[in-house]
Amino acid sequence: MKKIVIANFKMNKTPSETKQYLISFLSKYEDYKTDLILALPYTSLSIAKFMIDKREISLGAQNLCDDDEKGCTGEISGKMLADSGVSHVLVGHSERRAKFKEDSKIINKKIKNGLKNRLSIILCVGESLADKNTMKTLSTLRMQIEEALKGLYENELENLIIAYEPVWAIGSGKTPSPKEIENAVRAIRKVVEEDFSKKAAQEIRVVYGGSITPKNISKFASIEGLDGILVGGASLESSVFLQIINAMI
Ligand code: PGA
Repeated sequence: MKKIVIANFKMNKTPSETKQYLISFLSKYEDYKTDLILALPYTSLSIAKFMIDKREISLGAQNLCDDDEKGCTGEISGKMLADSGVSHVLVGHSERRAKFKEDSKIINKKIKNGLKNRLSIILCVGESLADKNTMKTLSTLRMQIEEALKGLYENELENLIIAYEPVWAIGSGKTPSPKEIENAVRAIRKVVEEDFSKKAAQEIRVVYGGSITPKNISKFASIEGLDGILVGGASLESSVFLQIINAMI
């Protein structure tokens, strides 16, 4: 099975910077070796779509509006993303949960809205440091997944990837041990099994994200049950990101 590799540029790179990045990245990246998804800022989607045309690379956005109502000044709908060539969208990233006060109700609505517009969802879940220190990692994951997936049909999970991203690991240089990730992935699959089915639990794709670098990537390349990785800061330099990708092949 090919590994999934997701880049999250966050609020980095103007369209011209994205163009420069892709000129270098695309000249060296070998398609078909991984399932690559580039989650870019809205303003870079159009240039990226043009540049990755005919390549085996998926285009992702980092957010979408939770409804299709007209009175949503400043928002971007799932329909707009789909029509821009976007196939994937991040939902529930911890920065959006914390900074933009996105609660589980909003996250659930965003997922449904994305799926309705035929977008694949990358649902981010993960415990805070306080949760970790009080042994609440697994109960937090359970709560976040159950609330996010409320009301979904089992067949919709085909279009969903769960990204395990401990809040304390994002951008901090700290990472969980392979054993901790393995336990979290097992717990995530268990929730899916209880809420949907054994088959859904086996088939759901789960990736890890948080402070991945070329130095520590070997730790994440062969964790039992893990289907790939989500890379933030280290995806911003094309040569660094390529090193990470190559370690996943
Ligand atoms: P990081 O970010 O790799 O810079 O820690 C990951 C993320 O926020 O998705």
